[in-house]
Amino acid sequence: MTDTTTLDEHAARALERMRAINPDADPVSRLPDVHPARIPRHIAIIMDGNGRWAKERGFARIFGHRNGAQAVRTVVEECGRLGVEALTLYAFSSENWKRPSDEVQELMYLAALYMEGERDALVDENIRFRLLGRRGDLPEDVREALGRLETATSGCTGPSLNIAMNYGSRAEIVDAVRSLAARAVRGEVDPGAISEEDVSASLYTAGLPDPDLLIRTAGEQRLSNFLLWQLSYAEIHVTETFWPDFGIEALHAAVRDFASRDRRFGGLGPA
Ligand code: FPP
Repeated sequence: MTDTTTLDEHAARALERMRAINPDADPVSRLPDVHPARIPRHIAIIMDGNGRWAKERGFARIFGHRNGAQAVRTVVEECGRLGVEALTLYAFSSENWKRPSDEVQELMYLAALYMEGERDALVDENIRFRLLGRRGDLPEDVREALGRLETATSGCTGPSLNIAMNYGSRAEIVDAVRSLAARAVRGEVDPGAISEEDVSASLYTAGLPDPDLLIRTAGEQRLSNFLLWQLSYAEIHVTETFWPDFGIEALHAAVRDFASRDRRFGGLGPA
């Protein structure tokens, strides 16, 4: 475990911030060539390429999803070691219902399996779990697994894991507008005074920092209705690697790429 007294003040402060959330964070040993202050606080990932991964191997698409589910665990664990505070994974979009019903069923089955199978590990790692999306349309077994996971992790105070399911960013913004409008009707907010912070606080991601880094696997260069509000200033890293092959090395490459960027947030100098 890296001793903070051996680091420059900026690095020591970053490490202390991370360890207040996750005492096991050790980015200096995991990625010695990246300054700890340049580790993204929040990473969002569009996990793409499961189908192509399977096809290349002559398997059915669902085989790719099964292997994709395995990759999730590796990435969650490594993000913890790197001191990442929040990880958001796009597992099922509101448009994915258009896929063949056996594939939809398999994805729902895998989601429920993940929530059941990882529950104890997530509690042990003190991970806060949140589902992003309209849960009412999810099958009952997924909602039950989700309820058990939410109950089990409700006292966790460490890094956040958010899984987007039945998620669409425009639907999320519509939900936020509806909730703000309802509050305005009740006289709780002044419509003319609604701020960007009020909108952020009405999204499914309320309370989380915006993602600093968006990773998209399998080469496509689009946002696919994912976190459109929250990704306003994110750096984008697209890799050709298919999601089931995305492991520690690919995550490190994305973080190195992020650390090399000059983020100006619309200004002229580095932030
Ligand atoms: C995109 O690949 C992937 C998805 C639509 C689903 C992602 C789901 C998992 C990784 C399963 C695990 C889920 C949880 C909650 C652990 P694609 O099928 O669009 O690939 P293609 O573009 O190559 O066809």
